[in-house]
Amino acid sequence: MYERGPASRRWVAFPRCLWSGQCRAPGLAGPSVPPVGAAGMEVRLVGWVESGRAWGERAADWAYLIEPYARGVNDALFDRTGVGPGTQLLDIACGSGYAASVAARRGARVSGLDASEALLAIARARTPAGDFRVGDMFALPFDDDSFDVATSFNGIWKGCEGALVEARRVVRPGGVVGITFWGAPKRLGLMPFFAALVELSPADHVSATVNQGDTGRPGVAEQMLKDAGLEFVDRGAAQVINELPDLDMTIRALAAAGPSWPAIQNVGYDKFADVMREAIRPLYVDGIGVRIVSEFGWIVGKVPAAGR
Ligand SMILES: C[S@@+](CC[C@H](N)C(=O)[O-])C[C@H]1O[C@@H](n2cnc3c(N)ncnc32)[C@H](O)[C@@H]1O
Repeated sequence: MYERGPASRRWVAFPRCLWSGQCRAPGLAGPSVPPVGAAGMEVRLVGWVESGRAWGERAADWAYLIEPYARGVNDALFDRTGVGPGTQLLDIACGSGYAASVAARRGARVSGLDASEALLAIARARTPAGDFRVGDMFALPFDDDSFDVATSFNGIWKGCEGALVEARRVVRPGGVVGITFWGAPKRLGLMPFFAALVELSPADHVSATVNQGDTGRPGVAEQMLKDAGLEFVDRGAAQVINELPDLDMTIRALAAAGPSWPAIQNVGYDKFADVMREAIRPLYVDGIGVRIVSEFGWIVGKVPAAGR
């Protein structure tokens, strides 16, 4: 279990990578979560402000060309967490608020938190009645027991257990927390994108991209729940589909993911586009366009009824 920071009600925030993934707690109370780079790789740890800047660099492209692809897993997780009329929901690392808009259409009262103000501006346009705040998921700006449900769609990875502890704090006893992550590698249609990203990224960003996939391995997410003091409820998988009309639009869409930003800075947009085009070309079918089918895993944990 994590400990609270010495002089604060909030949990101590640690530096992390652009996926919002790895974090560490040097010299602090509670377990030290090492920067979990693959063997021999250096992990670059960045703050949430830099992370938000990377994710917000091409905010409209992310919002409209990518984010809706996760609809299948948005519905799967909202079904399993019981999101419906009157649910007080917090979506953590909510991006441009597509998932929050799905929940709002179910009748939920939605709040969202993200590191990128540019993405949040779109979230507010999508759900004007929502309460969207910029900030760090390791220090949520919400009171204890404020929500029935907290979710995070590919925002909380292995190494981010501190953010799960925060989710648990803001959800009432008996409420639930659900997160998603990449599913089985053999069902990850986006693998060519990730492989190309690794090739193009500065060395100190590579291991974060490699490691966030680790969250889906059997037992990893269950351990994350346990470490955060959540009781395991259920785990499953759902399909997500990127659908784009041609290769140019696909490259533009993939360039909007936060971790593409350091790769583009590293090699320039033209080289990024050339390498991505070759990586994605096999997925293009004349007359149909690009359809990339991937699997997300999801897991749900319950906040214990008492003994917080
Ligand atoms: C993979 S995107 C997921 C966005 C959205 N949940 C979705 O389903 O498309 C990760 C998001 O995490 C946000 N993020 C990264 N680090 C964060 C942090 N420390 N606190 C809050 N948000 C963070 C980014 O700005 C980005 O919107």
